Amino acid sequence: MRVTLSVIKADIGGWVGHSGVHPDLLEAARQVLEQGRQQGTLIDYHVAFCGDDVNLIMTHTQGVESTEVHALAWEAFQKATAVAKQLKLYGAGQDLLVDAFSGNVRGMGPGVAEMEFEERKSEPVIVFMADKTSPGAWNLPLFRIFADPFNTAGLVIAPTLHQGFRFEIHDVQEHKKILLDAPEEMYDILAFIGAPERYNIKAVYSRATGEIAAVTSTERLSQVAGRYVGKDDPVMIVRAQSQFPSVGEVLEPFTFPHLVPGWMRGSHMGPLMPVGLNQARTARFDGPPRVVALGFQIAEGRLVGPVDMFDNPAFDEARRMANQIADYMRRHGPFEPHRLALDEMEYTTLPDILERLADRMEPLAAPEKVQAVAPEMDVD
Ligand code: 13P
Ligand code: 13P
Ligand code: MG
Ligand code: MG
Repeated sequence: MRVTLSVIKADIGGWVGHSGVHPDLLEAARQVLEQGRQQGTLIDYHVAFCGDDVNLIMTHTQGVESTEVHALAWEAFQKATAVAKQLKLYGAGQDLLVDAFSGNVRGMGPGVAEMEFEERKSEPVIVFMADKTSPGAWNLPLFRIFADPFNTAGLVIAPTLHQGFRFEIHDVQEHKKILLDAPEEMYDILAFIGAPERYNIKAVYSRATGEIAAVTSTERLSQVAGRYVGKDDPVMIVRAQSQFPSVGEVLEPFTFPHLVPGWMRGSHMGPLMPVGLNQARTARFDGPPRVVALGFQIAEGRLVGPVDMFDNPAFDEARRMANQIADYMRRHGPFEPHRLALDEMEYTTLPDILERLADRMEPLAAPEKVQAVAPEMDVD
């Protein structure tokens, strides 16, 4: 059967501050999705959270971008926002940027990752949910999972993976996309995705079968709202086993807590820490940035799970390393590269300071003209 897995997420109010989600919000969202299940819009659902973001994980048969499913998600967020407002939670309704739903939640604030596929004989999927970072955070782990033979043994030794994977990369500034194949075009892929604030891996496909293997949310709140309203705390779906990397190969990149932008006020670099749900609240300096992995087997569209994949001693060292990196980065205080570069910061006071101090800003004396002579060299 053809199944659609939709993960739609929003920050609709933090408890306490931006650290976590109040259980009443999850309950309000569950009630709406349960109605949707009883009315036949959904086959199954699971409501989860990471940090202060609510994640609606839903299965159905309506394909991606279904108005009915998106309307249901919007209603769940609205009902939960009403609860958040009663409790005066922090930033109630933060990510719902428009007043009225119009067909599709894309461009309205929530983040969306959806894929439709023919359910396999056994269908393991991992739903990743991150807080205090942005969609580019998935670039490095996705490359490792689907293109790095030092991560994914199957690329070398499993006939079903040996042909490699196709990457769909989006230029989020110019709104363009390109498809590139690994391993042949690996260096081209890296040239793009090494700049994760500009280029995001949106999806990955098996080259052997053309089937979708992974999809990410790439929504940018600040582009929708035209101002900072919180980070774009992204989600990702990855299918595993058989013609895809195994579950262990999918989780392996997260043993390295790579540096991602986000953290305090969306304006700092910090390590991405893999955590179980019981550690999914942010704390230190509103972080460090976190990622949760929920595993499901899908059976006739039913979500058999979740299994809390990072709630495991195998990720203790990654968490320890993330804490050490957090200490090291924090000691830079207001200095780059802990604090983001000027054009990437979500908050800044510099324009105001420059205006206030404009009449104290003096031009430098023109430098003396010297004749520069480039030395002769026989290298490029
Ligand atoms: P099993 O032999 O337990 O099925 O595992 C196979 C596999 O692919 C593990 O990554
Ligand atoms: P969120 O994007 O998770 O709401 O965090 C915002 C923030 O400013 C944290 O310091
Ligand atoms: Mg928040
Ligand atoms: Mg958040």
